[in-house]
Amino acid sequence: MAHQSTLIAENIHSYLKVQEEKDMLRFITCGSVDDGKSTLIGRLLWDSRLIFEDQLAALKADSKKVGTQGDDIDYALLLDGLQAEREQGITIDVAYRFFSTDKRKFIVADTPGHEQYTRNMVTGASTAGVAVILIDARKGVLTQTKRHSFLVSLVGIRNVAVAVNKMDLVGYDEERFNAICREYAELTRDLGFEEIVYLPLSALKGENVFDTSVNMPWFQGPTLLHYLESVQVADRSSDRPFRMRVQLVNRPNLDFRGFCGTIASGTVRPGDEVLVPSSGQGSRVARIVTMNGDLEEAGAGQSITLCLEDEIDISRGDMLTTPYARPSHADQFEAKLVWMHEEPLLPGRSYLLKAGSATAPAQVTELKRKVNVNTLQYEPGKTLEMNEVAICNISITRAISFDPYQENRHTGNFILIDRFTNATVGAGMIDFPLRRATNVHWQSIDIDKQSRASLKGQKPRVLWFTGLSGAGKSTIANLVEKKLHSMGKHTYLLDGDNVRHGLNRDLGFTDADRVENIRRIAETAKLFVDAGLVVLTAFISPFRSERSMARELLEDGEFIEIFVDTPLAVCEERDPKGLYRKARAGELKNFTGIDSEYEPPEHPDIVVDSSSASAEELAEQIVRELFG
Ligand code: ADX
Repeated sequence: MAHQSTLIAENIHSYLKVQEEKDMLRFITCGSVDDGKSTLIGRLLWDSRLIFEDQLAALKADSKKVGTQGDDIDYALLLDGLQAEREQGITIDVAYRFFSTDKRKFIVADTPGHEQYTRNMVTGASTAGVAVILIDARKGVLTQTKRHSFLVSLVGIRNVAVAVNKMDLVGYDEERFNAICREYAELTRDLGFEEIVYLPLSALKGENVFDTSVNMPWFQGPTLLHYLESVQVADRSSDRPFRMRVQLVNRPNLDFRGFCGTIASGTVRPGDEVLVPSSGQGSRVARIVTMNGDLEEAGAGQSITLCLEDEIDISRGDMLTTPYARPSHADQFEAKLVWMHEEPLLPGRSYLLKAGSATAPAQVTELKRKVNVNTLQYEPGKTLEMNEVAICNISITRAISFDPYQENRHTGNFILIDRFTNATVGAGMIDFPLRRATNVHWQSIDIDKQSRASLKGQKPRVLWFTGLSGAGKSTIANLVEKKLHSMGKHTYLLDGDNVRHGLNRDLGFTDADRVENIRRIAETAKLFVDAGLVVLTAFISPFRSERSMARELLEDGEFIEIFVDTPLAVCEERDPKGLYRKARAGELKNFTGIDSEYEPPEHPDIVVDSSSASAEELAEQIVRELFG
């Protein structure tokens, strides 16, 4: 590397030591390539001379060959590897670049600024302390400026540098610069930024990036680099109350029990009182153990193992906190959610929520309003598409400890994961716990499922029929119920068409409505099982996710999945309600098997095909298998 190469060559150890001791600033650059973003980052890397000698030679050669700057160096070419990836439409995550000056080390997150990359930007910004928002001096504040600023504020960044670039192309006009600053200040009044610094610059000419500009004597502020070197980020992790999520309970032998994790905020010392909100139990810190020996104090960002004075119940995902400023501990909260996946969010579907090391199945119980990221207006909506943002209520199957994101970025964030594909589908920021969560308790009832079932002399369970429309679910389920009834069983049949006339009359056939349809049926089936009944359900129930949610609501052995695997062609041929014909003619949208997906069960308990035997025979077979 050009200017640091002597130090590295002469004494690699002292070079590394100097690097290690410098503090680190993470920032994100927001803007599009047209605003000169690549040029700006290229310029920072160049001016800090953190470019390898061979890269430098190649850059000079490439600039001559393919650059857009005549004989001058085209700094944007430094980032072209990434560019190529983008143009080919390869999935890009976030490119992180490292550079350093004498004062600080930097990691800059670089993501494209277009709306279709919102999720990448949110990812890149979520760990940044500062955002550099690029504005082209000729174009001024644009829709994208608004969007970028909103997303930056959403992830809790409080320090913003507005880099008004290409000042050379507006004749270094002070009034133009001031007008942009005024407009930006007005636009972001409600976004909660603590400090906004405005910098006029020309990344291309290197003016006010590293060196001050002779062409803008009217500007008395810092250069961009000077700003980055000196900004004090308003993320006060260490001033916040002590929080650490337990990643691992380390118990190598009976004499040692330590709780490993990274301190999310605050500091901790031996002797400090700590509390576990999930149980309300408390103790004191006995030791702070690290690889390099015990510590007298540890703070935010440090990975440690805590040993406590008392044996209290703590498991992975629990939070250790100070008892004097407790986090919330709840199983429902309101949050802002950014959707990250091509498959839209379906409220009611069970996703895996992961907040640090705490994980639990969760569902969006209410999509309250979507935020239009361009206008910042609220809009109604039933689902969330990729890159959309919404405010919603989320319910988790068990309580976790957290803080509002705006108070603590490290304990207020979470992601949602698809339980079948393991893809990260959403990222969220918690606003507050829902009070209903803490005020509703389980009422204990003396007569339980067992007593109800034994009075009826039967084992309650659900026979869950799934399959295409016209497959024969209702017909077979009806025959099975008749047989069970004549055997003296107490049954109840929930049938798709019938339930949609009452309990679910408000639901249609979009994916979101089908998820809600099945969620309600699963909950109803669970209540009826609790009542001691043998429940039969006949719904298309096209999605694996919801069928497995139904299975999870019940106890082992209570959920019996019966796949009525009649081929689509046969169902269509039968077409008892004339719906396939309508769907083929385009008169009926979202019809299962035609333009709406059916996901066959992977491990059904029973498979029957009504094209190979009569409904009567199949019903007989099912009763024999389950009750014979
Ligand atoms: S599910 O997908 O949500 O489980 P459900 O079993 O309740 O569906 O209802 C399916 C019944 O609704 C079908 O048997 C059919 O009679 C009727 N129906 C009306 N429109 C549709 C559609 N677009 N897709 C599937 N079934 C439909």
